[in-house]
Amino acid sequence: MKRPAPKRRPPAEPKTLDVTIAEIGARGDGIALAEGMRLFVPLTVPGDRVRVRVSDPAGKGEGVRAELLETLESGPGRGEPACKHFGRCGGCTLQHLEDGAYAAWNADLVRGALARVGLGDTPLEPLSRTPPGARRRARFAALKRGKRVWFGFNERQSHRLVDLEECPVLTPRLLALVEPLRALLAGVLPDGGACDVVASDLEGGIDLLMVGPRGLDRAARERLVAFEPDAVARIAWQADDRGTPEPVANRRPAAVRFGGVPIVPPPGAFLQASAEGEAALVAAVLKAVGGAVGAAARVADLFAGLGTFSVPLAQRAAVHAVEGDAAAVAALSRSVQGLRLTAERRDLFENPLTAKELNRFDAVVFDPPRAGAAAQTEALAASKVPLAVGVSCNPATFARDARTLADGGYRLTRVHPVDQFLWSAHVELVGVFER
Ligand SMILES: C[S@@+](CC[C@H](N)C(=O)[O-])C[C@H]1O[C@@H](n2cnc3c(N)ncnc32)[C@H](O)[C@@H]1O
Repeated sequence: MKRPAPKRRPPAEPKTLDVTIAEIGARGDGIALAEGMRLFVPLTVPGDRVRVRVSDPAGKGEGVRAELLETLESGPGRGEPACKHFGRCGGCTLQHLEDGAYAAWNADLVRGALARVGLGDTPLEPLSRTPPGARRRARFAALKRGKRVWFGFNERQSHRLVDLEECPVLTPRLLALVEPLRALLAGVLPDGGACDVVASDLEGGIDLLMVGPRGLDRAARERLVAFEPDAVARIAWQADDRGTPEPVANRRPAAVRFGGVPIVPPPGAFLQASAEGEAALVAAVLKAVGGAVGAAARVADLFAGLGTFSVPLAQRAAVHAVEGDAAAVAALSRSVQGLRLTAERRDLFENPLTAKELNRFDAVVFDPPRAGAAAQTEALAASKVPLAVGVSCNPATFARDARTLADGGYRLTRVHPVDQFLWSAHVELVGVFER
């Protein structure tokens, strides 16, 4: 077989080109084809005529990054960014799109990923939207230099920090905590010290998990304990990303509520990014499963987390929740007395449920991390389960896994996109597989 010609390398010396943006790619950058190169130009929209500088080395076969020097002519679909940090802050990628173009991009991303695996004619339901001010969970970075603390998100493609002054994405309660946290960390971090802060806006208050390179000394711990804002319900500190969170202040219970059932999450636990996004996902899962199975049915919820889907499903059927994180399984198990719900800790990458185990269920829900559920969908494809519902924050790995299921005899009957990560290049979705 003839091998495709290798992509042409960009010039070793920087080169300035005038190009037209053809489309927006999966990471939110505009794409232009020029001189045999596929150029990725951040902050552009289709139809833009732009002057760019190509300075990167040839981009690993995928394309070449180009720097936007000047917009010569604007394409349609350009909008006014909602935030003054947009362009530099790595938190948002697509605020420069007008709302209709932005919504269309979300759906196109899903359609494109499915088309690449031969499932492009899958019916797509209308996009569920998330309003500004709804992101209830965020991971901030903080760095102290001299007396000053930089606090916010990383710049695009960089480890430099954007010092956050505004953010139209976060809930008002999270945003209101930025300045007090900056002041707090000035007294907690040593000069040159850094930490991350995972903040979750829960029922009952804000849950803070701070992740630093080492443990807390006594003075730092006392400052954390004395941190005043009333909105804060709990504070925990974790030395290093793989450490165990150590409770520092536990002022009142902070909970999430699934199907009306309160669950107290372990510090920093996974939570769907917004209440609105979660509601759309749960509604789509319940519609798919609820419509197909009766009260006597058995449902498996794989990659179950704290039970976002398991709990509402367990109010309708018998549910077995499987999740890799021991603390999440413990929190779920503690909170669901009276429901027909069992929970199991299991690594579903290393040890997926086998086809034989899956055959005990009338429906299977799976909601893996961004890497997808390759091993688990292989087993599902070999099973006889009549209904599978996939939830994913990564259309590319979802499409790969959907292909596996389709090859195993499932029909992907519909996909429901959910814009849960407002103005970012991430799209969430629910896909329904039947056989
Ligand atoms: C996208 S979250 C979904 C959680 C839950 N379904 C929800 O909606 O809140 C993915 C979950 O998969 C879990 N996970 C990650 N890797 C895993 C693995 N190898 N085996 C089992 N669970 C895993 C994470 O701990 C996380 O709870």
